[in-house]
Amino acid sequence: FPQTLVDRFQRRVDYLRLSVTDRCDFRCVYCMAEDMQFLPRREVLSLEELYEVARAFTQLGVSKVRLTGGEPLVRRGILGLVEQLGKLPGLRELALTTNGSQLTKMAPALREGGITSVNISLDTLDAERFRELTRTGDLEAVLRGIEAAVAAGFDRIRLNAVILRGRNDHEVLDLVRYAREQAVDITFIEEMPLGHIVEHDRGLSLASSAELQRQIDAEFPLQSQGDPSGAAGPARYFRMADSTSRVGFISPHSNNFCHLCNRVRLTVSGRLLLCLGNEHSVDLREVLRRPGYDSAQLVEAIVSAMNLKPERHHFGEEGATDIVRFMNMTGG
Ligand code: GTP
Ligand code: 5AD
Ligand code: SF4
Repeated sequence: FPQTLVDRFQRRVDYLRLSVTDRCDFRCVYCMAEDMQFLPRREVLSLEELYEVARAFTQLGVSKVRLTGGEPLVRRGILGLVEQLGKLPGLRELALTTNGSQLTKMAPALREGGITSVNISLDTLDAERFRELTRTGDLEAVLRGIEAAVAAGFDRIRLNAVILRGRNDHEVLDLVRYAREQAVDITFIEEMPLGHIVEHDRGLSLASSAELQRQIDAEFPLQSQGDPSGAAGPARYFRMADSTSRVGFISPHSNNFCHLCNRVRLTVSGRLLLCLGNEHSVDLREVLRRPGYDSAQLVEAIVSAMNLKPERHHFGEEGATDIVRFMNMTGG
């Protein structure tokens, strides 16, 4: 590439996370407030604008795009966007993070459109608890969705479980067993403090990865492995001797991976956020909607944004400023 993206700390950015909607059919307790307000339509990037941003990034050497939300599959026209992105030259991986509620209908078309890997949230296997944690979700629909994804034959499927003490921490082994049965990977995620949620006390509920790892290791001995996708990411992966499934841990509180960070994210309103845990950003929507816009301006804005990428996040540190932005603005 004539130009690649490198920040002030010599980190190469080759991964874009694209939030395609702030809306979701679930209201997970750790992600959204119960009375969440969503953005008005005019503030949300159009599918054409989303594509334009992704295209500019691939021209700058970005080889992986992950679609996030909210719930990306509730955005109208998402399959059309997937098909277009699937044809972008230079894109090695087109990934999706979803709550799984729409997968029974959409998995085959997503696969055909070019989605290579899918991460599906699954925090519990108990229908009642699922309803408590997601407030509106239906466990059965998600389990059928996971099966549909497995049947569609993506390169890689991973479950994501956010573990909260006293709520689903006793289900960790059952979740691992379920992942093994489906022959998919699973990661356990420490909750991150994004957005202020009155109904939910984050301090009480942190279950540390180290603790979960010990619990799993006692039942299924874990052998350390790097990231199988080869890309630097927040998850540390382990294999089990008798299964193809991998177990990963995402531990913002106990294992900071910022020095390896390779990613930036676009919010649905077109803010290019340089870090999940900081507010440094550039308004790409303003660039896209300028009179006389041309794509060179967008490329220029993206290249210079790299200078704003902060060294690391400060989740859980004494005196750190709260991030008021909710998780559904960036899809994690
Ligand atoms: P890969 O693309 O394989 O690296 O997947 P991922 O784990 O980044 O993707 P996913 O969307 O499934 O996110 C799982 C969890 O990782 C969510 O809780 C995200 O908020 C978190 N996560 C993703 N990127 C970052 C990051 O840059 N920093 C931190 N602290 N957490 C992140
Ligand atoms: N902390 C950690 N992970 C979160 N997710 C949503 N909110 C939080 C949070 N506060 C997870 C979802 C999904 C992924 C995109 O991020 O469960 O799997
Ligand atoms: Fe929706 Fe995902 Fe947030 Fe749950 S975590 S409310 S499924 S965006």
